[in-house]
Amino acid sequence: MPNDKHLLTLSIQQCSELLTLAAAAAEHAYAPYSNFRVGAAVLLESGAIITGCNVENCSYRLTFCAEQGAISRAVAEHGPSIRLRAVAVANLNGAVSMPCGACRQTLAEFGDDSTLILYPGKDGTPEQTTLGALLPKAFRLEFLKPK
Ligand code: THU
Repeated sequence: MPNDKHLLTLSIQQCSELLTLAAAAAEHAYAPYSNFRVGAAVLLESGAIITGCNVENCSYRLTFCAEQGAISRAVAEHGPSIRLRAVAVANLNGAVSMPCGACRQTLAEFGDDSTLILYPGKDGTPEQTTLGALLPKAFRLEFLKPK
């Protein structure tokens, strides 16, 4: 049975608020190459919310995704024990888009299968999935520990 603790604890209003914060963060994006401005808002188990946006670079592969920026800020501001309750991701292109593969792995470091992933659907209404659905059987810290 899936662990749906976060689905039970986040209201529609909280989801909308997180998505609004993600969209506001996207306004700050530095994306002169793709013009695809992305914002992320992460809700920690503590209740704190931290945002990030994508920051591109003329050496394209050095680009930071919005989710990575938000996670980096969250750890810097709240320490290495943060746990993710939900992550909202929004872009200013109206695309129904979700975290890229690399970001899924970054989020898995601090979340679990039940971490909510929120994104605006076709008509802009909040939609949700889970990290477990986007990245099943994620590579995890435990694997590095000898038996
Ligand atoms: N991008 C993100 O910020 N997050 C994602 O999950 C997908 C991609 C950014 C990276 C790049 O600046 C732009 O979107 C186009 O790929």
